[in-house]
Amino acid sequence: GDLGIVAVGFSGGQGKPGVDAAPAALFESGLLDQLRHDLGYNLHGHDAVHEYADLVPQHDPPHRGMKNPRAVSAVTKRIAEQVYAHAREGRLVLTLGGDHSIAIGTIAGTAKAVRERFAGRKEIAVIWVDAHADINTPETSGSGNVHGMPVSFLTGLARDSDEQFFGWIGDEHRISVSKIVYIGLRDVDPGEKRILRENGIKAFSMFDIDRVPIRSYGIGRVMELALAHIGADTPIHLSFDVDALDPMWAPSTGTPVRGGLTLREGDFICEMVHQTGSLVAVDLVEVNPRLGPAVDAAHDTVRAGCSLVRCALGETLL
Ligand code: ARG
Ligand code: MN
Ligand code: MN
Ligand code: MN
Repeated sequence: GDLGIVAVGFSGGQGKPGVDAAPAALFESGLLDQLRHDLGYNLHGHDAVHEYADLVPQHDPPHRGMKNPRAVSAVTKRIAEQVYAHAREGRLVLTLGGDHSIAIGTIAGTAKAVRERFAGRKEIAVIWVDAHADINTPETSGSGNVHGMPVSFLTGLARDSDEQFFGWIGDEHRISVSKIVYIGLRDVDPGEKRILRENGIKAFSMFDIDRVPIRSYGIGRVMELALAHIGADTPIHLSFDVDALDPMWAPSTGTPVRGGLTLREGDFICEMVHQTGSLVAVDLVEVNPRLGPAVDAAHDTVRAGCSLVRCALGETLL
């Protein structure tokens, strides 16, 4: 099949440099060749890593507490156009971040393309695999980092009328709270817990995935329940934050949280989503090859990222 690739060298949704170097690191470790030769995709858009330097202003003071708000708004608006352009051609779209703020763009682009393709009769579902819920509003956020807010802007829980502060997001770009499923949560801010509860958002925490099957489901049952919540024949956008994995597997990331998924559980999530046949877009975000405790940390994290992507795009064990 045809695969559109958007390689995003952007880190403005949070404060640590290096997450913008992830696409190049993933390419250097052979990801494109794996997608082409081992999985048989025709690749489009893979020759450039986008840095969006023309969209990042010199002076970008906070707005409603958000850091780098003009840059993140303008860059995600452009990403939405790029993802939309691939999806409109009928391509599966793979976006390599970059921090998780870029999902404002990727999901906005997919949501719009799917609405158009099905003449408004279908909406995408989003499977958000992450240690974090990333559903702070500017007002609930303690950090001001927009990578902790994408889901609130995508659902309309956060809004701004000013074009340069995400006011470009329209109804065609939005997703409904009933179509999101979280997997892997274990570091959710108090304000976010309230938002999840008040909106009845489906979320499977690490407790639900736990390997002691007494009161928890385990990853197999969690995936059954997650996909049942979404329902058959619903186009799926998979947004995978590598920090969903335990730091043992993915140490090189900006906000690591212990007690996470094994690499095998992460791959399994991706395999199950692929098997639905409903996948329309995949994001892999928050790989930061400049961070990590040990010499092999970046290499391990990049390899884990490649494995997740291959599983989402159809690699099977046999
Ligand atoms: N909840 C914290 C915040 O809002 C951490 C968010 C981490 N997000 C991420 N995409 N890694 O700042
Ligand atoms: Mn090969
Ligand atoms: Mn995260
Ligand atoms: Mn995230």
